[in-house]
Amino acid sequence: MSDPTTAPGEPVLVASGLVGGYVEEADILRGCSLTASDGEVVVVIGPNGAGKSTLAKAIFGLVRVREGTVTLRGHDITSAAPHEVTARGMSYVPQVANVFGSLSVQENLEVGGILDRGSIRERMDRMMTLFPRLRERRRQRAGTLSGGERQMLAMARALMPDPSVLLLDEPSAGLAPRAVGEVFDTVAEINEAGVTIVMIEQNARRALALADRGYVLEGGQNRFEGAGDALLTDPQVAELYLGGTTSGGRPEPPPRERAAPS
Ligand SMILES: Nc1ncnc2c1ncn2[C@@H]1O[C@H](COP(=O)(O)OP(=O)(O)OP(=O)(O)O)[C@@H](O)[C@H]1O
Ligand SMILES: [Mg+2]
Repeated sequence: MSDPTTAPGEPVLVASGLVGGYVEEADILRGCSLTASDGEVVVVIGPNGAGKSTLAKAIFGLVRVREGTVTLRGHDITSAAPHEVTARGMSYVPQVANVFGSLSVQENLEVGGILDRGSIRERMDRMMTLFPRLRERRRQRAGTLSGGERQMLAMARALMPDPSVLLLDEPSAGLAPRAVGEVFDTVAEINEAGVTIVMIEQNARRALALADRGYVLEGGQNRFEGAGDALLTDPQVAELYLGGTTSGGRPEPPPRERAAPS
């Protein structure tokens, strides 16, 4: 699935200095940037309302970018429509409403493969091999799937156009621990098959452990960035965004158990 025109490690997706939002007078993104190189897993974390989903939407052409640029393999896609971005090799799985609930599993995959009808059966079969539970449930309505199954379907649908970059907005949100593990394993598997991953996650420690590169977004701006393991062990990042001290240290006790000031 890798593009032969890009060598491993070369920047594939570059979002630079993005400013924009939903209405003219209120910018949600205030100059944030992100780079994903070929074959990488890039993770974006940050508090609720930081602008993570808005960043994903801006990259995919769903939110207007007033300043800054987005390039995909060197092509400027800043003002491109979502279907054009998909045609250039990037798929997106939104945080909510990421499957068609009234359609069956199989029909959802067909919709995902609509850009290239030619090999749709073969690609659908590949997805059902990657996600065996979807094969078992291929006639079931997507709206009746479990949370974990629905995320699997959303990822499979996004993979139908055979993208080289997959943009995932909180794929593990609301899932039980076991399903979270399955989602992370699947993401790792998709990446091993050559797909560059950009993933927004609340499960920050787990996501950073998988990440080659990570970004902490706050107030629509980059707050921290670096290698996944460097962010995991950064005391400030741990304190502010990972809910405690870095590995090795003891977790902070809750405030009321701390020694009272003398
Ligand atoms: N469709 C919309 N119209 C107007 N404002 C919006 C819209 N979607 C989001 N916002 C606002 O943009 C800001 C950033 O939202 P966004 O969804 O990008 O945050 P997030 O970092 O993804 O948060 P979360 O972790 O809760 O998913 C919030 O203040 C939110 O209220
Ligand atoms: Mg979000």
